[in-house]
Amino acid sequence: MHALNELSQADKASAYAELEKSLRALLTGEHDMIACAANTAALLYWSLPQLNWAGFYLVEPTSGDLLLGPFQGKPACVRISMGKGVCGTAAARRETVVVQDVHAFPGHIACDSASNSEVVVPIVDGERLIGVLDLDSPVHARFDDVDAGGLEALVRVFVAATRGAG
Ligand code: SME
Repeated sequence: MHALNELSQADKASAYAELEKSLRALLTGEHDMIACAANTAALLYWSLPQLNWAGFYLVEPTSGDLLLGPFQGKPACVRISMGKGVCGTAAARRETVVVQDVHAFPGHIACDSASNSEVVVPIVDGERLIGVLDLDSPVHARFDDVDAGGLEALVRVFVAATRGAG
């Protein structure tokens, strides 16, 4: 796999397509949410350049909060209320949020002071919000629309793999 930062936008999109194939292969035959989330976080963290954190926050049914799930990177905030921070905003809107400069995002929750940009993709299965996929970078404006589209496709693979899991 090429380093995505060395690629043109078109090549970057095709690198995400390759990553999608890798993820599909990695998750085939396993429906468990935690196992699939753990391997998805590891694949993303070790495949995409310029990340300092990649992982999941999953909806806790009893409280409705986003609760820390499998991730790679430094220890992070455990619980995020719906609508709070970048994660809670993406979850509440059910829309991908790309933040070029986290320091300029009102209510951003700083888990690692090294983070300067962030992308959060909601994980939705039909009407059900499962959680969010969160990627952080020490590089300003690390993520763009190609990343957002590529990550949304990866989240669809994750949702399909885990469908039917508790
Ligand atoms: N920055 C996030 C919190 C999670 S960490 O980045 C891992 C937010 O504002 O929701």
